[in-house]
Amino acid sequence: MPHPTPPPPFFHLLLLLTSTSLSAESAVTTVTSQSSLWALLPTNRGRPTDDQLRQPASGNGLFRGGTPSLVPPKLVSSILDTLRLKFGLSSDSEISMEMDPGTFDAKKMKDMMELGVNRVSLGVQAFQEELLKACGRAHGLREVYEAIEIVGSCGVENWSMDLISSLPHQTPEMWEESLRLTVEACPTHVSVYDLQVEQGTKFGLLYTPGEFPLPSETRSAEFYRMASRTLSDAGYNHYEISSYCKSGYHCKHNLTYWKNKPFYAFGLGSASYVDGVRFSRPKRMKEYMGFVENLENGLVDSCESNRSAQDMATDVVMLSLRTSRGLDLKSFGEEYGSSHVLALCEAYKPYVESGHVVFLDEQRRAMAADELMPC
Ligand SMILES: C[S@@+](CC[C@H](N)C(=O)[O-])C[C@H]1O[C@@H](n2cnc3c(N)ncnc32)[C@H](O)[C@@H]1O
Repeated sequence: MPHPTPPPPFFHLLLLLTSTSLSAESAVTTVTSQSSLWALLPTNRGRPTDDQLRQPASGNGLFRGGTPSLVPPKLVSSILDTLRLKFGLSSDSEISMEMDPGTFDAKKMKDMMELGVNRVSLGVQAFQEELLKACGRAHGLREVYEAIEIVGSCGVENWSMDLISSLPHQTPEMWEESLRLTVEACPTHVSVYDLQVEQGTKFGLLYTPGEFPLPSETRSAEFYRMASRTLSDAGYNHYEISSYCKSGYHCKHNLTYWKNKPFYAFGLGSASYVDGVRFSRPKRMKEYMGFVENLENGLVDSCESNRSAQDMATDVVMLSLRTSRGLDLKSFGEEYGSSHVLALCEAYKPYVESGHVVFLDEQRRAMAADELMPC
């Protein structure tokens, strides 16, 4: 029976690859060598019909970490071929790859571009040797400059630089220097992430949030404002909490998440979002292999997490408020009902009064708290 909705117009390729080519090979093989890629789709729920498959989707893709730039190009080629065959990819698709300095040379960069990779996200993180060491990065400053040089000399037009703020021992002077060197490197996009200290990671064992040598919350906020000011002055549009771009260089794959649009994800630990349902795959290779085998044998463990309408409305609010565009209350009301709009207005009223939240009318003029329609 045909599926009632078209396939999601976005393909998110999530591959967690470790640094040995052997494990990289086995992870990729698990993605592409099955009787069909459908074995790895979240469930049959989002499976396109044959008719839908004949129409190329304008899907965007992202190869993300571990370190996809360590994957041999022939394996990247095999994944992209499978996707082209099964989904079709239109010529304006964004195919992004996270690349770490020190893990690729000019030949590899060119090979990836020939295969269709047309956007690079370079994980620079910091421009100070001691900070790179402190955050456990395999690369040093020399590799950072080499990578920037390679991206430029290979003619990668659309590339992003990732920076992390609030690293241990990071001073405002260091942050200012990183921002200045970023602007000098002229990427078309910059992502600035505030360090997240996750429990259970090596970093989490070493550092306690809020305590030295991590910067205080006040200092982290100062880093955020410095980034926004410096990058805006340099002509970058601060279009999402951690994202800045030159005109026309918004990151398409990230916009998919922020607009709460559906996406497929493949590979270890990946999470898909299809028909309002989120699905995730096992994080460990052994369990992942078993999961794929079960799918192929029809013993589907879909790992579904059903979202209530309330959850979905909350997702839309949270994701929209990450962006400079904000939340469109009219379409939000049409989708989730006026009671949710009322509840939102009520909840945000004190923050409108304190100046932390701005409601705009249809002409995008700021409204006062007592004008808030329809509260
Ligand atoms: C989220 S993706 C980057 C996507 C990319 N900016 C783009 O535009 O396509 C990976 C980045 O997350 C950041 N990151 C990784 N671990 C982090 C952590 N613990 N805290 C904050 N940022 C982290 C690093 O900057 C890394 O390069």
